[in-house]
Amino acid sequence: MLSAEHSENGAARNAAGAGGSVSPPGETRDPDGRPYDGRPYDPRRYGPASPWAREVRRLAAEQDAVILAHNYQEPAIQDIADHVGDSLALSRIAAASTAQVIVFCGVHFMAETAKILAPDRTVLIPDARAGCSLADQIDAEQLRAWKAEHPGAVVVSYVNTTAEVKAESDLCCTSSNAVEVVESIPADVEVLFGPDMFLGAHVRRRTGRTNLHVWLGECHVHAGISAKALTAATDAVPEADLFIHPECGCTSSAIHRAEEGAVAPERVKVLSTGQMLEAARTGRAPTVLVATEIGMLHQLRKVAPGTDFRPVNPGAACQYMKMITPEALVRCLREGKDEVEVPGPIARRARRAVERMVAIGTPADGE
Ligand code: 13P
Ligand code: SF4
Repeated sequence: MLSAEHSENGAARNAAGAGGSVSPPGETRDPDGRPYDGRPYDPRRYGPASPWAREVRRLAAEQDAVILAHNYQEPAIQDIADHVGDSLALSRIAAASTAQVIVFCGVHFMAETAKILAPDRTVLIPDARAGCSLADQIDAEQLRAWKAEHPGAVVVSYVNTTAEVKAESDLCCTSSNAVEVVESIPADVEVLFGPDMFLGAHVRRRTGRTNLHVWLGECHVHAGISAKALTAATDAVPEADLFIHPECGCTSSAIHRAEEGAVAPERVKVLSTGQMLEAARTGRAPTVLVATEIGMLHQLRKVAPGTDFRPVNPGAACQYMKMITPEALVRCLREGKDEVEVPGPIARRARRAVERMVAIGTPADGE
């Protein structure tokens, strides 16, 4: 649903352009073709002691490869990776790594960001088709047209964008530092923020900025974590803590419920995936309702085994993230594919915005 607090220009452009009408890919399935429910794939085939795991480790050592995995990856991939984290933590790790090859188990824009930060290294993604419905919501031409309508505005692009869009941006941000990135811009300067409208609304709420224009894009997985699902989950366990990723469609509703007293305000925590892990480590709540992609539950349960983590929407699986299958990871290491390239001029322009993102905010969680 579009709200009046969002940019009227973004709305017009989304209706006319590529954004706003992205069809999610098909249902997410595990390697045996069963609908994916967030539980680990068969541990005998993919556990740490399996022949698959030994082969992955052998190939990675042979090629001086570091394996990075996003918190939404399937558990077997998270468990075999050298580092697991949110997109900011993984960008920082990629930039600091000395490995010759970076294998990025995540989606394409994340691997592109690693390549932008580490241009002299080989960056591989096990399946280059692993895109992102949110990154598809704005392209460089649309951003240029939006900028032309707001001369002098500073452009803050979410990391979930293509390299071309980053090259047109002044700063990038992730969900863990979006508020700090916007706060780093003088208060009287107009800001164009995109492409996620729910994150944009969150940044507006937290900064109180009225000169922040928000592009009307959304992630199909997080938009599907609705206010209705949140109300049902919190009514069932009112004493539970609530971890909400700011891309969720239910973020405003959770804050509204806290304001009207239906949920204790101190229980509502709007967090990036890395911040969720930090909160899980230090939290005391016996039950936590988790509003984000269900791959997140694996790391949460590992860091706080005594807490009952429950998804607000058990069907919130990102089909793109799950394209990185155990078999695809082996193929990637064996064949050196799919290699991620970013053309030099685009990479150079995008690097300024990405480096500013990496420099701002407290380091996010990453093993
Ligand atoms: P994080 O920045 O929290 O890792 O989230 C990335 C993402 O794709 C959310 O859908
Ligand atoms: Fe993109 Fe949404 Fe998947 Fe994150 S969960 S990678 S924003 S489609």
